[in-house]
Amino acid sequence: MTVPLRCVVLISGTGTLLNALLEAIDAGKVDAQVVAVGADRAAPGLQFATDRGIDTFIVKLDRGGDRAEWDRALTEATASFHPDLVISAGFMKLVGRWFLERFGGRFINTHPALLPSFPGAHAVRDALAASVEVTGCTIFAVDEGVDTGPIIAQTAVAVLPGDDEASLHERIKVEERRLLIKVVKEWRRNHE
Ligand code: GRF
Repeated sequence: MTVPLRCVVLISGTGTLLNALLEAIDAGKVDAQVVAVGADRAAPGLQFATDRGIDTFIVKLDRGGDRAEWDRALTEATASFHPDLVISAGFMKLVGRWFLERFGGRFINTHPALLPSFPGAHAVRDALAASVEVTGCTIFAVDEGVDTGPIIAQTAVAVLPGDDEASLHERIKVEERRLLIKVVKEWRRNHE
């Protein structure tokens, strides 16, 4: 018996990626444990953790607030759960130097485009605006750039005639959920 991989998941929004991972763990498909879920705001997705009795924490960055201080507070809150892996799943903030020094190489992010195409906060909109026929999702190890870190896994998704940002993003998220579960499942074999 191996000890389950300890994961802290960071979110900002609805948390459907988080929930997919939690369901896969509940179903015994992934040998991992989400030991805490953190957010930068009162994210609705925190409820998925609360419902399961998983610890949650919120580290807010106020407008005009001190980013370095926020970064340290986020680092300490995350580190207090001793994660093997930290997952940004729809966490809409860039972390700073402290966080990366502590978790670099084991801090991953999921992005709704085939990086290095369409980095940034509007990846789905940007892909549509560029009239690409294929986009997708990427899981990568976070570095100090914006969506520039080493790519771990990708899945392609076709853009369909009539797609708008919402319909395309929803189809990408179906693949993002699958890909995240796969990456977490294979993490130890590939990275330890
Ligand atoms: C995902 O597409 C993620 O890549 C993006 O935000 C979405 C998160 O969705 N940055 P959810 O909050 O897990 O539903």
